[in-house]
Amino acid sequence: MEAYLNRSIKKVIKEFPPVEKILDEYAIGCGPCAVGLCLLKDIVSIHNLPADQEQEMMGRIASVIHPGREIQIPRTERKAEAQPRELKYSPPMKKLVDEHVLIKKWLALIPGILPTLNLESGGDRQLIREGVDFIRSYADKFHHAKEEDILFKYFDENLDLVKVMCEEHKTARNHVKAIGEALERKDRGTVVRRLNAYRELLSQHIKREDEIMLPWMDKQLSVSQVGEVFSRFLEVEERMDSCQQKYGDFISRVEKKYKRKED
Ligand SMILES: [Fe+2]
Ligand SMILES: [Fe+2]
Repeated sequence: MEAYLNRSIKKVIKEFPPVEKILDEYAIGCGPCAVGLCLLKDIVSIHNLPADQEQEMMGRIASVIHPGREIQIPRTERKAEAQPRELKYSPPMKKLVDEHVLIKKWLALIPGILPTLNLESGGDRQLIREGVDFIRSYADKFHHAKEEDILFKYFDENLDLVKVMCEEHKTARNHVKAIGEALERKDRGTVVRRLNAYRELLSQHIKREDEIMLPWMDKQLSVSQVGEVFSRFLEVEERMDSCQQKYGDFISRVEKKYKRKED
């Protein structure tokens, strides 16, 4: 069992598919993760389930990996006793969670935009151009930069969780580049496919950040580090002063337009 704890979760799931369903039942959604670098032991430790639930879950995983054998379940190291799953964030983490809300609004608009998208129409081309600008400037330059250039610097860059998140940012950038290029060629199929892929990726990414990464990072940082992160976030906000207003207005405008279409 120890050997499997040190194996990447994707490999464990590939070899023993029922493990994905067991993790799912404990709200640990590793299946859809596109990267899957995390080790089984890290996943168990990061989620910090109550001890009895963790033992129960590990017992079930052990019985899938070693059917019919009595297995000693190793305990994971605990930073603190698990709390009921009410998510609380420090002020800088709360800022990131609030920014996710605007990004999720854009993701929620995509399924309404795509079915009637006509790249021969100047209006539709402009909408996708503005959507790409929102992703590049707000989701990436403003938000992901806070994560990568500030928050993640407080952690080991070789940490699986950090590597997975950066890898997903990179994949998202590739989708956006492809959308921008396809838009110029009026290649509707690629725009639709890549926007859907972006939506799928970012929805899972944000969920993992909100529910796993940010609460876990909060626990690792000292009070003074949290203060430092907060003031460095403020610097970015000052530097990109008009960003929040501009892109907040963009999302409201698109929401109004597509809400009217639904009515
Ligand atoms: Fe992120
Ligand atoms: Fe994020």
